Amino acid sequence: MAEKMDPKTFEAIRKFIYDKSGIFFEKNKEYLMVNRLKKRLDALKMSNFEDYLRYLKSPSGAKEISNLFDAVTINETYFFRHINQINAFKDSIVPEILKRKRLMTIWSAACSSGEEPYTLAIALMEKYGQNIPARILASDISNEILDKAKEGVYGEYSLKELSFDMKKKYFDNIGPGKYKIKDFVKRKCIFKNINLTDDRQLRSIGKMDTIFCRNVLIYFDNISRQKVIDKFYNDILNPGGYLILGATESISRLKTNFKLCHFKMAIAYQKPI
Ligand SMILES: C[S@@+](CC[C@H](N)C(=O)[O-])C[C@H]1O[C@@H](n2cnc3c(N)ncnc32)[C@H](O)[C@@H]1O
Repeated sequence: MAEKMDPKTFEAIRKFIYDKSGIFFEKNKEYLMVNRLKKRLDALKMSNFEDYLRYLKSPSGAKEISNLFDAVTINETYFFRHINQINAFKDSIVPEILKRKRLMTIWSAACSSGEEPYTLAIALMEKYGQNIPARILASDISNEILDKAKEGVYGEYSLKELSFDMKKKYFDNIGPGKYKIKDFVKRKCIFKNINLTDDRQLRSIGKMDTIFCRNVLIYFDNISRQKVIDKFYNDILNPGGYLILGATESISRLKTNFKLCHFKMAIAYQKPI
């Protein structure tokens, strides 16, 4: 079984992943890549990473790219992650946007297994009832994780921030430690495969009033971060719209015209009106 990668092959696969997804493996992270890609070699019955790279680059390897994304992405997430951001969204951002329009558009741009977009739907239902004044698009680069999101079945870890009452209201307990999101929540989220570095895909999603792009740009370098942030600002966000990054992330090193807005224990970036 392949346990090591030749430095030249590591460089080439590192570049391939970066060019296709923006995901940046540090130069010293060869062991990490070996760990992530070993299972792809096993699945394809290949004995070395050189063959895998050749396959990825060949016309018949195009279908493998989605498996590559599944293997290298980190999908850590849970419901009501960073509650202060969710509260700022529900109590300040949404009411402000709804002063200008009756129905707002929200995009969870790296939604992983769905906890983030479903959280947004639930937070809005707590305030506005089941008929929420919003459309929620949820997307990710990984098909495997999107299938999980669409299935909507979660374990205790994902629901760790939820009270007993909230679990009861929004989930069906379908087995020991297994919860299925109720259909009336599921129906509020549309899931799509969108690669944040694919301009053609980004052009197809339409205009948004709020973008949640949390805990994904941390895997990019500054060049691809800048490109994604520019796309959000120039092509996707409506004037007055907000961008919410992960609680520990900042775009202070990038060049943007976003206005930094402070809420109670949370920040967001607004495109000026
Ligand atoms: C750590 S999860 C974040 C989930 C959620 N936003 C949160 O904060 O809880 C990062 C997600 O980004 C996705 N991702 C990585 N690169 C991406 C890209 N180029 N385009 C879209 N999604 C990407 C991964 O598949 C993964 O599901």
